[in-house]
Amino acid sequence: MLKFINSASWALILAIFVYVVLTPKALVAGRTISDIVNKSIIKTIKVDNDEIIDCYDMFKQPSLNHPSLHNHTIQMRPSTYPKNIKVDNPGTLQVTQTWHKYGTCPHGTIPIRRNVEKHYYSTLLRKQRRPKIIHNKKSNILQPNGIRDNHEYAIIKVPGSFIGAQAKINLWNPTVETMIEMSVSQIWVMAGDDSDLNTIEAGWAVDPTNFGDYQTRFFIMWTSDAYQHSCINLRCPGFVQTSPDIAFGCNFTEVSTFNGDQKDATFSIHKDQNSGNWWVQLQDISLGYYPSSIFTLLSKTSDRVEFGGEIYNGRYNGRHTTTQMGNGHFPSEGGLGISSYFSHVQVINENNEAKDPEDVKTYISNPDCYDLKVDKKHTNGYGFYYGGSGYNDNCQ
Ligand SMILES: *[C@@H]1O[C@H](CO)[C@@H](O)[C@H](O)[C@H]1NC(C)=O
Ligand SMILES: *[C@@H]1O[C@H](CO)[C@@H](O)[C@H](O)[C@H]1NC(C)=O
Ligand SMILES: *[C@@H]1O[C@H](CO)[C@@H](O)[C@H](O)[C@H]1NC(C)=O
Repeated sequence: MLKFINSASWALILAIFVYVVLTPKALVAGRTISDIVNKSIIKTIKVDNDEIIDCYDMFKQPSLNHPSLHNHTIQMRPSTYPKNIKVDNPGTLQVTQTWHKYGTCPHGTIPIRRNVEKHYYSTLLRKQRRPKIIHNKKSNILQPNGIRDNHEYAIIKVPGSFIGAQAKINLWNPTVETMIEMSVSQIWVMAGDDSDLNTIEAGWAVDPTNFGDYQTRFFIMWTSDAYQHSCINLRCPGFVQTSPDIAFGCNFTEVSTFNGDQKDATFSIHKDQNSGNWWVQLQDISLGYYPSSIFTLLSKTSDRVEFGGEIYNGRYNGRHTTTQMGNGHFPSEGGLGISSYFSHVQVINENNEAKDPEDVKTYISNPDCYDLKVDKKHTNGYGFYYGGSGYNDNCQ
């Protein structure tokens, strides 16, 4: 994920905040849904003022407005699954979302979480700023116009021609210091460099710019032009959803506790060998897919896969942010329950076989701020511990 906001943007945020809070609700742009969109909404489920789920007719879902999908035939389920997937169980998490208590989306519809008004500042902000991005091949850090990059990573990189990746990711609710920072833990399926970088991403995020709060939320993301255009969840056309049960952008109903109950969930991305579509799965639920045709390089295979954590360091108080990665604890402090983990990390090779990753390289942008340690014991498949506190004596 990416975020490019400098301190000058605070003025804009403030202005929009004032606008949103002080403007009568009826005048706030985007609050009502246009008639055309309305026609494809079959049912609306209201959780509270911050969470509204619209059940869209699957065959009129907004994603089908993508230019390459005008005559798209929806694939209802994957026709191939990777072989040799390591599953003891898909994760300790029951896949329930808060809105399930208030209703279900009928067969043939898909749930889309509505952007409620308090999120509009971020939409506006994003429209204001879309800097050009350079993908630095050596460091693999994305830099806006050569400005010192404020994204920090603790990740593993697995080079190779893959058609998928999966991992069980420990769920936490890290502290994010300011509303324009973020902390994410995710999988990246990638191809290309520089301006032709293609990615498919899935994981969890605390990302107030996108979601308007500090909860741990499920997200997917893609780009086919090195983030000049990138899209989270179903905010723009691309991802074709088929599941009536899971909405992107919802929170996880349970997260882990330090030294206590550990919660995790299996996230997976795999390319259907017949259709070429990239399916995304949470636990054992197939959610839908990114059609092969919306990509350039990823219409074929990836050339690497990455797993781990990323934060955005806003440096707003003249020092490193206290935004945490993972659960805010370093792998050096301890393993299970102490620091956060990825387990059952697997890549899917071109023969559609799931394998433990090989030739793994770690990339840790600043180990004094956030670190990563591969778990050599391999009891839960290939895995690693990662995370950190951000600002401390050695991370200024
Ligand atoms: C759609 O339009 C109908 C009729 O105008 C209205 O009653 C309903 O509330 C609208 N639904 C949404 C989700 O805006
Ligand atoms: C749309 O798809 C149908 C069925 O595959 C095909 O017959 C038709 O020619 C297509 N139309 C366009 C405009 O591509
Ligand atoms: C998820 O959101 C609901 C309300 O929308 C809230 O009641 C619940 O506490 C949240 N779960 C977590 C783990 O924060």
